[in-house]
Amino acid sequence: MTFSALIIGANSAIAKALINQLLQGNQPLTEDSTGRHITEIISISRTDNEPLLHSPVIHRRLQVQDYSEASITEVINQINTESTCLRMVFICNGILHDGNLQPEKNIGQLSEFALQRVFTVNTVTPTLWLKHLFPVFDRQKKQHGNTPCHVVVFSARIGSIGDNELGGWYSYRASKAALNMVLKTMAIEFRRRIPNVKLIAFHPGTTDTPLSKPFQKSVSKEKLFSPEFVATQLLKIIDETPVDGELSYLDWDNKPIIW
Ligand SMILES: NC(=O)c1ccc[n+]([C@@H]2O[C@H](COP(=O)([O-])OP(=O)(O)OC[C@H]3O[C@@H](n4cnc5c(N)ncnc54)[C@H](OP(=O)(O)O)[C@@H]3O)[C@@H](O)[C@H]2O)c1
Repeated sequence: MTFSALIIGANSAIAKALINQLLQGNQPLTEDSTGRHITEIISISRTDNEPLLHSPVIHRRLQVQDYSEASITEVINQINTESTCLRMVFICNGILHDGNLQPEKNIGQLSEFALQRVFTVNTVTPTLWLKHLFPVFDRQKKQHGNTPCHVVVFSARIGSIGDNELGGWYSYRASKAALNMVLKTMAIEFRRRIPNVKLIAFHPGTTDTPLSKPFQKSVSKEKLFSPEFVATQLLKIIDETPVDGELSYLDWDNKPIIW
């Protein structure tokens, strides 16, 4: 039996820090309250995510072509083996800007192109991964009973409707709010059908990565986190969060965020 951590979107700076920490085998990172060690990390990215460290933990690096549904199914088929038992899943994909789009400052800047692109990466892609992981969890439950699995999907505080004081950043905000609603709806179905899976919508805080780079000027030093700090916090949160059939919307400090 292989107890695995699955990291999707492995070229994210935060994902790399998570992989490093899992490879280093820091406790409680490889052992949870059931005493089952993570013995394998499966990382998935569009680019060939490079090996990070030598470690007794096996690191399988898989490539996904373009996050289309067909390419996601292809990769899922490679990981859904009888001996694999997923204990942690991290879905890290997210886009805020690229060469062709910037977060909107006002209504006039909204565009069909940006809305579709941002929703595809931030909402549709994680949703499709969870759709195709559902049968994997179902098989695991039949095979391994109620072995818990924490599924962390990277959301953002900016997706909170209740917390929206500033406005702006329409596509990113709305795509993360929509992601939260998908996760909430899925949590209800998981509770009924696969209650050993715990869903977490996670806000890492402003973290020093390519995603936040152009917007870091107004962030004070203490509020700009390193990916390593966020990875440590997140692994601690997993250790402290019980499997309770609910979706938790948590920040880096394990504090709940209002919806
Ligand atoms: N950094 C922050 O301040 C901050 C704050 C709040 C929330 N977040 C969220 O945290 C998560 C990780 O972000 P990060 O800061 O680590 O960003 P990052 O280093 O820029 O990583 C970008 C991530 O998005 C994926 N991605 C980029 N373009 C994509 C596309 N066209 N289709 C599918 N996936 C694509 C990448 O996957 P590949 O591995 O395939 O390249 C990678 O996982 C994101 O969901 C982000 O919204 C970040």
